[in-house]
Amino acid sequence: MRKLQKRYLQAMLASLVVMLASSGLVAAEKRCAAEGKKVECPVQSDKALQAAQDAYDQEANDMASGKAGSTYGIAPFDYLTGVGKRTESTDANTGDSGYAGATGRTELWDRVGKPKEGEAVYNQWTNNWSPSFDHTLVPGADPNEGKQWYYVYCITCHGWTLQGNGPSAVDIDPRPRILTAGDKYMNKKTNLELFTAIKGGGEAVNLSSSMPAWGNFLLDQDIWNIVAWIRAMSDVNPPKSVEEYLNPQSSYKVVKGDINALNYKDSDDFIDAQEMMEIDLGGRGEGALVGGGYVEGGLRKKPEDVADKVGQKY
Ligand code: HEC
Repeated sequence: MRKLQKRYLQAMLASLVVMLASSGLVAAEKRCAAEGKKVECPVQSDKALQAAQDAYDQEANDMASGKAGSTYGIAPFDYLTGVGKRTESTDANTGDSGYAGATGRTELWDRVGKPKEGEAVYNQWTNNWSPSFDHTLVPGADPNEGKQWYYVYCITCHGWTLQGNGPSAVDIDPRPRILTAGDKYMNKKTNLELFTAIKGGGEAVNLSSSMPAWGNFLLDQDIWNIVAWIRAMSDVNPPKSVEEYLNPQSSYKVVKGDINALNYKDSDDFIDAQEMMEIDLGGRGEGALVGGGYVEGGLRKKPEDVADKVGQKY
């Protein structure tokens, strides 16, 4: 009898918690870990995410109805890339929201490198209209390569400048992480943690499976390159000018003893963390991984080329 009462009480309490949580009376749960402490996960407000989705839909609708064009007719390319985004120095007269109109141009078009003759659309975007880096914060990993994979797989949830505000974000629960919350959160995570989250998905690091596992699409070196890109973008705010957009700031400091793309294979922590994960990743067989965003001459240089090219001293 006592047992039954206890169970009944527990059930009552549980439903009360659910009610309070949905009424917004319970403070946001601290389910994210940074330096071993539980903290609130950095995510965008629902309002901001709804606005992001609406803007995306608006561009798509306008394009479909012929009201406005989108760069290359890829809807809604401008929202995803930020190529056509209004900047501080543009107004309604010089261009708005990426719609090319009669000029055939968008705001960033004239200010960031013009595409080279014959350059594929995808490479134009990744090479000419986005920040590039001449050094890395993760030895052996190239943030420029990582950026390209990020644009293929991550942008719809985490947003074009990694601020957790992609057009799908409002439909995902829990919300995608703001990957630029450097000083507050991201810089406190180890490379191993980020690598594992990307390769094995949220569940591999005790987060939600709404962060998918990418280990069936990306090679380990690709993932390292993405980690380098996230580190390089660790404190990026929504850009107010093209200059700001092209020169992202990062306060990330290499954590002593943390693994990187040159030494990870020797790390017991790494081997332990990956062992179970690899079993679940079906696409990892020899030669099986190409990656949905693979572009000849664009994505995926040989890892040796990356390590040679990128500065490894700090
Ligand atoms: C379908 C939406 C979606 C896509 C696509 C996606 N993510 Fe996520 N990501 C999430 C969500 C949601 C979370 C937060 C999970 C949680 O809070 O439990 C997350 C969390 C993360 C984290 C963990 C941060 C932490 O708190 O430790 C990293 C790193 C990350 N994502 C990187 C990426 C990268 C890189 C890609 C592309 C290869 C990507 N994500 C693609 C939804 C997505």
